[in-house]
Amino acid sequence: MANSDDQITLKNIASHSKEYGFIYPSSEIYDGLGATYDYGPYGVELKNNIKEYWWKAMVRMNENIVGIDAAIFMHPTTWKASGHVDAFNDPLIDNKDSKKRYRADVLIEEQMAKIEAKIDKEVQKAAKRFGDSFDEAQFVSTNERVLKYKGQIEEIENRMKSAIEGGDLAALKQLIVDLEIADPISGSRNWTDVRQFNLMFSTELGSTADGAEKIYLRPETAQGIFVNYLNVQKTSRMKPPFGIAQIGKAFRNEIIARQFIFRMREFEQMEMQFFIKPGTEMDWYEHWKQKRIKWHKALGLGEDNYRFHDHLNLAHYANAACDIEFNFPMGFKELEGIHSRTDFDLGAHEKFSGKKLKFFDTATNESYTPYVLETSIGLDRMFLAVMSSSYTEETLEDGSSRTVLKIPPVLAPVKVAVLPLLNKDGLPEKAEEIMSAVKLDFNAQYDAKDAIGKRYRRQDAIGTPYCVTVDHQTLEDNTVTIRERDSMEQQRVSVDELIATLEDKVSLKKLLRSI
Ligand code: GAP
Repeated sequence: MANSDDQITLKNIASHSKEYGFIYPSSEIYDGLGATYDYGPYGVELKNNIKEYWWKAMVRMNENIVGIDAAIFMHPTTWKASGHVDAFNDPLIDNKDSKKRYRADVLIEEQMAKIEAKIDKEVQKAAKRFGDSFDEAQFVSTNERVLKYKGQIEEIENRMKSAIEGGDLAALKQLIVDLEIADPISGSRNWTDVRQFNLMFSTELGSTADGAEKIYLRPETAQGIFVNYLNVQKTSRMKPPFGIAQIGKAFRNEIIARQFIFRMREFEQMEMQFFIKPGTEMDWYEHWKQKRIKWHKALGLGEDNYRFHDHLNLAHYANAACDIEFNFPMGFKELEGIHSRTDFDLGAHEKFSGKKLKFFDTATNESYTPYVLETSIGLDRMFLAVMSSSYTEETLEDGSSRTVLKIPPVLAPVKVAVLPLLNKDGLPEKAEEIMSAVKLDFNAQYDAKDAIGKRYRRQDAIGTPYCVTVDHQTLEDNTVTIRERDSMEQQRVSVDELIATLEDKVSLKKLLRSI
């Protein structure tokens, strides 16, 4: 069986997603709307299963985390206080020849990654040369060429950091010029100046005649949690350390929205803000890094597909931050952010609202504004991670081929398909009876059309982990076959044990217990 998944591209995934009802371009009959997508019948099931896994892992498994569902519209002062009105900007640069627009910091980071790659090459060469006696740590700390590259990276980092922190756009442009960075598409070095562009969408509340107020579509769900901090703390009788979790839509006017659902203008976030005593943030930062990576790895999308990336360019609210990156078809990219946000948000809301958002600790007679540790994952990106690691094109032993989505069974949109082998001899009636029983426990599909092989392929293409086939033997001894998607192996089980057998294979409970 050959697997050609090393050539899988985002294009394969996007066209498969559309053909099989996972994701459609939004308003397609009007030729679509840039970077906006609609989830189809299987897409919404997969999305709901990801949400359930996240929500249960966060809210149900932690007695000190509760959930909320805040409005998308918020008082406009929220965004002044949070810093988004003044600082939620991307430094953009245009190439005058190609007319393409880029984030200046991303162009510079890509340049640093190229130098990193040169270091990796040196290490690989030396490892080959020295064999078993190779000491990598010693090599990278003494080799002249590696040290020269490291020095270059450090210098670029320092210049970029000081330009960004100082809001010095001319210095950012100069860095691009000095590094001789060329447009990745056209190769041209003919750049405009760097400009700031605010990413929030705005609209108006109320009619113009009444004096409409400018409001924003939230660019992150987090602020709905911060402004409700006191309400939740009091009504759920929580005290730090405790967390508030939320799943909801966020909106950003992304300039370079591309790469399918990786970067969209309307997307969904799953965020958790953990309120803690100041001074304990680095311990909690480590704690949540480990917890979150475990949540990801338990799904079995591949241990090597994850890595941490520490932020160099910290957001305006953070004192430490990293990403969990996933190996998407276009390489390692951010999937989730873990941020130590200090008391930036609560402190700012105290200042702008004039309301006290402090916690009074009766044990120590101390009052403090809690620090916040945040975990923030994009639901759509998680969806893309699942799809891209599951999409497989296989050539089977008989020379035929199949496209199969090897989605973890616990997340699969359809858990089981019930298939009468033939559409006669009482098999459909028996299959319908089984269908009526299993659909109470699982998202199940009944399919009696076409040859059985064709029906298996249809289920493979939407990632159904188990196909239950009803044949003539079923009528004799009340047994069915269960065909497993990935191995295509079949097992005969009694109909009486069917639900328990399937339950064990797709159990969310089991997954939650493992993390
Ligand atoms: N509250 C913190 C926050 O919003 P962020 O790093 O800007 O932090 C968190 O976003 C996560 O949201 C990202 O790791 C990513 O998964 C997702 N995300 C951000 N912008 C996105 C976009 N334009 N399209 C899809 N997902 C996005």
